[in-house]
Amino acid sequence: MNILVAGGAGYIGSHICVELLEAGHDVVVIDDFSNSRPEVLDYIKEITGKAVKFYEFNILDEAKTKQVFAENKLDAIIHCAAFKAVGESVVKPIEYYMNNLTTTLIMAKMMRDYEVKSIVFSSSATVYGDPETVPLTEDCKLGETTNPYGTSKAMMERILMDVAHAYPQMSVSLLRYFNPIGAHESGLIGENPKGIPNNLMPYIMKVAIGELPELGVFGNDYDTPDGTGVRDYIHVVDLAKGHVLAIEKYATPGVHICNLGTGKGYSVLDIVNAFELVNNIKIPYVIKDRRPGDIATCYADPTRAKEELDWVAEKTLDDMCRDTWNFAKKHLKDD
Ligand code: UD1
Repeated sequence: MNILVAGGAGYIGSHICVELLEAGHDVVVIDDFSNSRPEVLDYIKEITGKAVKFYEFNILDEAKTKQVFAENKLDAIIHCAAFKAVGESVVKPIEYYMNNLTTTLIMAKMMRDYEVKSIVFSSSATVYGDPETVPLTEDCKLGETTNPYGTSKAMMERILMDVAHAYPQMSVSLLRYFNPIGAHESGLIGENPKGIPNNLMPYIMKVAIGELPELGVFGNDYDTPDGTGVRDYIHVVDLAKGHVLAIEKYATPGVHICNLGTGKGYSVLDIVNAFELVNNIKIPYVIKDRRPGDIATCYADPTRAKEELDWVAEKTLDDMCRDTWNFAKKHLKDD
C-alpha cells in the first residue's frame, strides 16, 4: 500500500515509517520539522534500506497538502502530526487548537476528495480523563481532559467519528496510546524533544546525560503501591507495529477504537530503578509536589488489541530503558 504518514519525522511517526517500510509498504511523509529533525529521514533509510517520499511543510498549508494527494495515489493515512506539549498547550491554546484541529479537518477533507479509504489517528489515553476504574477498556466513559492538548485529542476523535458517519465508505481507526517510551534498537531514532522535557522518560534521559541535575518526582502520596504515579509505559516500536496491523486489519469501513498499552502499570520509582539497574547509571531525584492535572493510576486493558489486531506488546520495561539510553548517549550528548 501507499501510505501517508503525517508527522512522519517525529518520535512516533519515524518509528511507524520504519515498521511500514519493513512490512513492504511505500511511505509518503509530510513534516514541518517543528518538533523533529531532518536527519531522521536519513536514519529511517539507514535502518530499512528504503527511502520515504518526503514533503516539508505544515499541513495547515492546504494548497500544498492538496498537491501531495494529487501527486500520490494514497491508500491510507496515518495522522500523527500534532502539537503535543501539555504545559505549552495551556499557554498557547489558540495555536494548539488551530494546528491540531485544522490539520485533522484538512486530512479528513483530502480523504474525502481523493477517495482515500482509511485513516489511523494517533489518539491518547488522555481522552479517558481520570479513570473511575483500571484497567481501561475502550468502552470506559470518556473523561474530563485537563488541558488544551488533551481536549484537542478528544475533539479530533469526535471530528473523525462524525466524518466516518457521514462518509460510510471510510475506515477511521482511533488508536489510544498509553505512555510511549524507548527508541529503535539501532539507537538511530528516538525521542529528542526541544527544550526542557515535560514527560518522565525524556527528563530521565537529560539527567542521565548530565544536562539536568536531578529528576523531580511529582508526588509520593498517591494511592499507589509506592505513592508515585502509575502508568502503562509502552515501547515505541511495539506501538509502531500496532499501526501496521491497524492499517491491515481495520480496513473495513466504520470506526475502530483500540487501546495500545501493555496492560501493566509501573510507578515513577519503578522506572527510575529499572533505568538505573539496566544502564548502570544513577538518576538522582527529589520528591516534589503533585503536578496539577496528574492522576494516580492509568493502565490499559489490551484485550481488544489482541483480539482485533492480533497485537501484543512484546518488549519489556528493561528493553524500554536500555533502548532509551542507547539512543540518548548517541544523540543527545552532542546536541
Ligand atoms: C502526559 C500528559 C498526557 C499525554 C502524555 C503524552 C499530563 C498531565 N498528561 O501523560 O496528556 O498524553 O503525557 O505522553 O501532562 N513525572 C514525574 N516527574 C517528571 C515528569 C513526570 O514524576 O519530571 C511523573 C508524572 O507525575 C506521572 C508519570 O511521571 O506520574 C508520567 O508522566 P508523563 O511522562 O508526563 O506522562 P503522563 O502524565 O501520563
